[in-house]
Amino acid sequence: MPATLHPSALMLGLMLGCGLAQAAEQLAPEALAARLDIPRPAVIAHRGASFDAPESTAASYTLARDLGADYLEMDLQRSKDGVLFALHDNNLQRTTDVAHKFPERKDSPANAFTMAELKTLDAGSWFNQAHPDRARPGFVGLKILTLDEIIDIAQGSSQHKPGLYIETKEPQLFPGIEHDLKEQLQHRGWLSPSGSTLAKGDLAVGQGQGKVVLQTFDKHSLELLYQEMPRVPKILLLWLAPGSIEPASGQSFASSGETDKAAFYARQQPRDQAEFKRWVDFAKARGAIGTGPSAALSGGGEQSYADLVQPWMNQYTHEQGLLVHVYTVDEPVDLQKVMSAGVDGIFTNRSDELLKYFQRPAGTSVSRLLDASGY
Ligand code: G3P
Ligand code: CA
Repeated sequence: MPATLHPSALMLGLMLGCGLAQAAEQLAPEALAARLDIPRPAVIAHRGASFDAPESTAASYTLARDLGADYLEMDLQRSKDGVLFALHDNNLQRTTDVAHKFPERKDSPANAFTMAELKTLDAGSWFNQAHPDRARPGFVGLKILTLDEIIDIAQGSSQHKPGLYIETKEPQLFPGIEHDLKEQLQHRGWLSPSGSTLAKGDLAVGQGQGKVVLQTFDKHSLELLYQEMPRVPKILLLWLAPGSIEPASGQSFASSGETDKAAFYARQQPRDQAEFKRWVDFAKARGAIGTGPSAALSGGGEQSYADLVQPWMNQYTHEQGLLVHVYTVDEPVDLQKVMSAGVDGIFTNRSDELLKYFQRPAGTSVSRLLDASGY
């Protein structure tokens, strides 16, 4: 437009110029997943095998890999001294002993700590206290992991090499993190094609074209990820709340006065179909290969949100030539529901159960794999 050309038109022209026609075509989900080398349905290990081991630690990522999950999912942050690492929460209180090691700084954001400081924290003992039925002595003292260390785990088995499914977490706190991520992935050879060392027929997501998937809730971060890594598959995560997909109720959980978060979200719907479709359309216009919507879980709980995988939603997303990877589903009744609704992949805390559900069971039990890894 010279004067008035919309940025999305520029982006579309750029995408087509780069040969990324899949973003402009309307491929069926099977064909799109096959073209991108993304398993369908995909097993995405949410913070690792985080039901069975402390989230985002070597125990949970190693277990997810050894179970045979397709992807190791992580929330990417950057330390005060510029090191990329994985942690879900903005601060360290829930999953570390920061209150004991740094009492004056316990409420500080994780990015106010250097990597050396973060490495002094125990990121495993909280799990033993929260889940005594799944506790293990070997979880005590587990460390926060850098991206580099998670890549080592992904590459570290001769049996199965999972891919990486990386979220830019609160990217407004980390200007330039999309560029830093590109540099790191490039440095480790994860942005170039690699020859498989596995036997033909083995699952080798981590060695194919779809070995990295990038994900974000943040529209601007999606644009930056596209600029930095135009050829890497990207997912726009979807969330129903004021300021995101606008809810019909106009309410946020905080403003609602409710106490049961899952019950509140289960009642929420997009303002109208057009509002939901606007987000899908944005994802497509900015070069995403799919969306990552939330699910409402039958048992409620901390990770139960608005149902954004209703059949009409998935159908619309598929009609735009995009995949649907839903978060975060563990129980058979919910797995059945989201698969029937038409999703193409599932974030799960229970890779073991999801692999069984998809009739791809691990050859060894969770308990034996944790034993074998020394936990
Ligand atoms: O990345 C999407 C999925 O992980 C769900 O969101 O809050 O657990 O990062 P969250
Ligand atoms: Ca995440």
